[in-house]
Amino acid sequence: MCGITGIVSKDRDNIGEVLVRCSRKLTYRGYDSVGVAAVRNGQVDLRKDVGTIDVVDKLLNLSGMKGDRGIAQLRWATYGAPTKANAQPHYGCTADFYGAHNGNLHNYAEYRAELIEAGHIVRSENDGELCVHAVDKYYEETGDMFEAVRLSTRDLKGAFAYAVGKADEPEIYAVKMGSSLVAGVAEGDTIVSSDLPSVLPLTSRVVYLQDGEMVVLTHDDVKVYRVDDGKQLDRQPEISNVDAHAAEKGGYPHFMLKEINEQPTVAQDVLGVLNGRECDNWLRMIEDSSRKYLVACGSSYNAGIVGTYFFNRLAGVSVVPVIGGQFGPMYGNTLDEDTLCMLVSQSGETKDIMNVLNLVKGISKGKTLGVVNVIGSTLMFQADDYVPMACGYEVSVPATKTYFSQSVIFAYLAAKLGERNGFLDPSESKRFVNLLETELPALTQKTIDKTGILTKNLARTLVDVKDLYCLGYGFTDGVAREGALKIKEICYNHCEGMYSSEFKHGPLSIVTEDYPVIFVTTPEDSWMVINHINEVKARHGRTIVVGEFEDSLNHYVDNKIDYLVVPRSDPLLNPLLDVIPLQMLSYYLSVDLGINPDLPRNLSKTLTVD
Ligand code: BG6
Repeated sequence: MCGITGIVSKDRDNIGEVLVRCSRKLTYRGYDSVGVAAVRNGQVDLRKDVGTIDVVDKLLNLSGMKGDRGIAQLRWATYGAPTKANAQPHYGCTADFYGAHNGNLHNYAEYRAELIEAGHIVRSENDGELCVHAVDKYYEETGDMFEAVRLSTRDLKGAFAYAVGKADEPEIYAVKMGSSLVAGVAEGDTIVSSDLPSVLPLTSRVVYLQDGEMVVLTHDDVKVYRVDDGKQLDRQPEISNVDAHAAEKGGYPHFMLKEINEQPTVAQDVLGVLNGRECDNWLRMIEDSSRKYLVACGSSYNAGIVGTYFFNRLAGVSVVPVIGGQFGPMYGNTLDEDTLCMLVSQSGETKDIMNVLNLVKGISKGKTLGVVNVIGSTLMFQADDYVPMACGYEVSVPATKTYFSQSVIFAYLAAKLGERNGFLDPSESKRFVNLLETELPALTQKTIDKTGILTKNLARTLVDVKDLYCLGYGFTDGVAREGALKIKEICYNHCEGMYSSEFKHGPLSIVTEDYPVIFVTTPEDSWMVINHINEVKARHGRTIVVGEFEDSLNHYVDNKIDYLVVPRSDPLLNPLLDVIPLQMLSYYLSVDLGINPDLPRNLSKTLTVD
């Protein structure tokens, strides 16, 4: 997945500076390579190279590029290795056309061959270059840039968004076909970008775009058109209330630590939103469906596993957790009108999830309920309904507060559903919802405060560990997987998350003297988990425990440092709190290893590719 930004200005000549300033907010979308195409007096100056935006800016003085309009692109490599030639933006056959894209062209190979056959000079192995050539091709045929952009989409298959301009024309055009795109109108500038954080430094007057739409930027306005027939759509800017500083670190060394510390507020905010909204439609969608799937990727999937335990425990409802890419091959043929797919995606753009959304909508069987954070995202617009995660922008690539928001949403919906379908006594439902609202924020803060130093100390003892397991049972199944994912993502260690009762069926063979195994448990399940701890202890493994303090558990940790104790709470709140020590452990271990947890190698915040 990548990040594109296009800006047209009335009076500026410092387009490079403002493109870099805005694009830097998209760093989480890609840092394999960066480039800027700046236009001044009809001449395009295009500079690009491998590295993060700061590295390439320093190397090529991107910020010093002159002009009144231009396009910048941050790349996360898919088609074509991360090289200078494959970096974006690209020219067309000549420097008359310039542009950049985000997403994937599924017909890349055949279309590239077709263009070369037709005499186009294709310089890279990056699919984004073909978007510019497609416009070049149709401009040759029509002599009109608007039509050329509109018709270019006919040649391109896949999910993508791109911005393109012609050197001697003042407009910049952008197309949304499956990847995110949002526009903004400032005083004397207009902007189009893959994500809101790069628009906010210029303006909070935003225009959300939907698939199949294109936008034309002039220096003072943004016009939206339907690609199919070129019809102009009445799309007025609306004021975004997302705090521009959400994309700043607020004094923390890394966005990840900031976002972990935002979780108490997230608990308040998301519960405030849920309580303020009519959940009836969401609950009805869940209750009326005969088959319920919870489809997600990465941390969202792990939160979904936690959700399935809540739906079982509080509502007596079976919700099947499925990894996004699995859904089609595993359940695609079982879809019918009574199927509900809860599509959980903080970005609302993850391609694996978009594929499921399109599958369900394509055969018009079943309903989709999004659980989504990014307002204006494709999932938000295209699902039958959506539950807002209301946790503000998450900038750090590893998810923390969005995972937390999702877990809280599932706990809340499960309690409400249990009350609605009679599985849960209304008084119990009300008691639990009240706990979520009145105790969870403070308990979250207390857990952060209490486990900060514990995790810092424990992390130091794990810097030489290259391989470990993180095991959960019952409610902490998804929690342990999330802890393992965090360590994999930002410590570059192999940490496998799995069910603790399954460990003895094979993986136990890895345990030797001092081999570390983390056990995450709730008080309700510790009697069972102790059996699994014993199986490791008996083979002299190192057992690390995450959970409330219990003498029976304390007996199995060789030293204090191996017990990440979370504050006592209601048994149903504990699974929400147990993830916090794991988030912080992975953070401090990452920093101890000299890694930037916000920008782990090879990864990206939003993967809009298959
Ligand atoms: C990965 C991110 O690319 O996508 C993870 O690095 C995230 O942090 C996963 O959990 C799923 O993203 P989303 O937006 O669908 O929740």
